[in-house]
Amino acid sequence: MREIVEQLDRKRKAAELGGGHRRIQSQHKKGRLTARERIELLFDEGSFEEWDMFVEHRCHDFGMASSKIPGDGVVTGYGTVNGRPVFLFSQDFTVFGGSLSEAHAEKICKIMDMAIKVGAPVVGLNDSGGARIQEGVASLGGYADVFLRNVLASGVVPQISVIMGPCAGGAVYSPAMTDFIFMVEDSSYMFVTGPDVVKTVTHEEVTHEDLGGASAHNTKSGVCHRSFGNDVDALLNLRHFLNYLPLSNREMSPTRPTWDAPDRTEDSLDTLVPANPNTPYDMSELVHKVVDEGEFFEIQPSFARNIIVGFGRMNGRTVGIVANQPLVLAGCLDIDSSIKAGRFVRFCDCFNIPIVTFVDVPGFLPGTAQEFGGIIKHGAKLLFAYSEATVPKVTVITRKAYGGAYDVMSSKHLRGDVNFAWPTAEIAVMGPKGAVEIIFRSEIGDAEKIAARTEDYRRKFANPFVAGSRGYIDDVIMPSQTRQRINRSLDMLRDKRLENPPKKHDNIPL
Ligand code: HXC
Repeated sequence: MREIVEQLDRKRKAAELGGGHRRIQSQHKKGRLTARERIELLFDEGSFEEWDMFVEHRCHDFGMASSKIPGDGVVTGYGTVNGRPVFLFSQDFTVFGGSLSEAHAEKICKIMDMAIKVGAPVVGLNDSGGARIQEGVASLGGYADVFLRNVLASGVVPQISVIMGPCAGGAVYSPAMTDFIFMVEDSSYMFVTGPDVVKTVTHEEVTHEDLGGASAHNTKSGVCHRSFGNDVDALLNLRHFLNYLPLSNREMSPTRPTWDAPDRTEDSLDTLVPANPNTPYDMSELVHKVVDEGEFFEIQPSFARNIIVGFGRMNGRTVGIVANQPLVLAGCLDIDSSIKAGRFVRFCDCFNIPIVTFVDVPGFLPGTAQEFGGIIKHGAKLLFAYSEATVPKVTVITRKAYGGAYDVMSSKHLRGDVNFAWPTAEIAVMGPKGAVEIIFRSEIGDAEKIAARTEDYRRKFANPFVAGSRGYIDDVIMPSQTRQRINRSLDMLRDKRLENPPKKHDNIPL
């Protein structure tokens, strides 16, 4: 027994040391924490239960037989974050660059299987060069095993990936199948193939940062959902973020006590929308003034900024917020914003999170770039997502709700449960000027006539009453009372039951 205990102690120390002091120092020099330091920051103190510390790889090629480190480059287990369970794997870059061997993959699969079984989120702290090259197809098989679990867990438990180092190959595809990807600025990278391969194949010269840094994935590709200044910041924000999410699809949206009165009025909202319908205003002001304590966790704040999505709380319960942003592209829907919001709506629907939608949308963005880029199928994603969503849906039209975009943005016709309009709402097929120029094309030369027609159209349609007369909106509300009216609606909808027809799965336009 004593001998075993001594051996155990030796193995534990070896596992805790990972790739050794030199590599740990190199990790620190790059401003990165080690896999274990990250775990300490993420979990409630002393709550982490580690599994499979003694697992080793089984590779004999390329001198690997003599180079084994207990744990094999990944720390796995579970613990609590603010008292709630979370499963985790944290890759150790100091051990073979955090690369994934068959054994490393088995460890990840084990915690994912358990997370699905008990219903708790999976967090992956990714710091890996991808498939372990020395293992060949065994490591590819390992990745496929992880990918499969990512898919099986999708919609069952939230999966969050934090990219904390240079990640390539499978180390980016697994995160791609999770719900949210966070990155660390200036020290994490994601690419399918790195700058060297890019140069060989396409002759492009590009830096790691430009090809796959947080900035590229925040603003250009939209792969990243949020980025943070350093490891500590990322992990503390992750703790905060997890509070918004249910543990699994078996739970309702979580609630937390709030000091913010559910019927709080916000007088400044009565003057938020400018008198001139073409003058932009900042929709995020409305979002922040309506949610509990002004606290809003925005998702993809730097990508497709013409739509705002993120999590807030209303009277304590988590809600997903989707809002057109008139400050950017006049709030038009385009390819990127449709994909961004469509995916967000689907996440909320998977996890029983009610959706609150603020609408000010002049339509879909016209142009060849959009048409050739497939706005038809991408715009359809958001339409599809809102249509299939069965969670409570409350919609407020603040100003424009024109054309197809009116239908898309959680309209009554797509089973919007409660649809409000502000007095400034304009619900029509298109704006007055465009409409008149089509209907009265023959009069275009006569400016006076056109002006009169435009005014007539504006009077008829640029208001909430036509939609109201058909019951497409349930009430016209004062902007200052928006929080109260949404809260009452969400209270009423608390036990909403709605199911889609039975099917294997739907076929959302990809
Ligand atoms: C084995 C690896 C490794 C890997 C890195 N290392 N990646 N060992 N398999 N995939 C080792 C290095 O040999 C080195 O060991 C140590 O990790 C640190 O790596 P460095 O290159 O010194 O670090 P850095 O300069 O920071 O560069 C990191 C990196 C680079 C950008 C990740 O290492 C790299 O390009 N790695 C290969 C990426 C890749 O092509 N992976 C396979 C993808 S295929 P020593 O002993 O020198 O410290 C794949 C298929 C999955 O994943 C399926 C997808 C659908």
